Amino acid sequence: MADKKKVYKWWPHYLITLAVVMIVLLVIFGVLANMYPVPDDAPNEIPLPDFGEDIPGPEWVFLMFWIPFWYLKGRLKKYLFIMPLIPILIAVLLIFLPYFHKIPLRKIPGLGALIAKTKSIKSNFLRGFVYAIPSILLGIILAVGVYRSGHQAKVLGCDSCHSMAMGKRMAIPPVDVFSYYKVDRARQIGVGKYRAGKTSGKMTASGEMEQDLSGEVQSYKDANWQMRHMYEPTFTW
Ligand code: HEC
Repeated sequence: MADKKKVYKWWPHYLITLAVVMIVLLVIFGVLANMYPVPDDAPNEIPLPDFGEDIPGPEWVFLMFWIPFWYLKGRLKKYLFIMPLIPILIAVLLIFLPYFHKIPLRKIPGLGALIAKTKSIKSNFLRGFVYAIPSILLGIILAVGVYRSGHQAKVLGCDSCHSMAMGKRMAIPPVDVFSYYKVDRARQIGVGKYRAGKTSGKMTASGEMEQDLSGEVQSYKDANWQMRHMYEPTFTW
């Protein structure tokens, strides 16, 4: 009995290990959230509008999926349809992941030899590590994506402007949100275009400013604006 090879099963081995890892992570998140709360005590304590850049926040995860709003604007707007496609593809991939081992990978030239070589590795740890390389690479790509699209977001500065002290529209929601979106906000989008911070002018060789009509017209209060509002709230509002 003693030399019988230990068989790891989904239940109980993996499930209990995963549950313990998740509980530990939850505790870490709870402690961190308690130690570094989002500033929401304005006007007594007002954060700087750019506060939160480079400070990891849960928003970083969904900002990765919003990044097309940042790039696909103006003439490129027609490619926005790829946005829902990416999560759908990921979902399909996850649904079929349990059948991954049915793919005859060893029949692919080159890969078969590689798998045979990996199988012959004596050390359990090393073999496991080699098998895990694709997941580790995917994890690194995801982590880099989350960081690259998230670190600019000023996620802790919202209260600097959106506080009760700023009154209507900034903190107090409209009484009738539906009519606000239908009428007021729609009008703002129609007339607003790009108002704050940056000019669309171009410096000529003689030092004069000239209207730059070749660039993309920046939008107002649409998804691209909302993205810019989070990345550079002091320029785009
Ligand atoms: C520099 C000041 C400032 C900061 C910082 C700021 N905002 Fe804003 N925000 C504004 C202003 C000004 C408006 C326009 C309000 C209006 O139209 O009445 C606005 C509008 C908005 C709107 C759109 C409201 C609408 O009309 O639909 C949202 C959503 C929003 N902000 C969210 C945020 C979030 C989330 C943060 C933090 C990540 C943030 N803001 C940080 C100043 C700021």
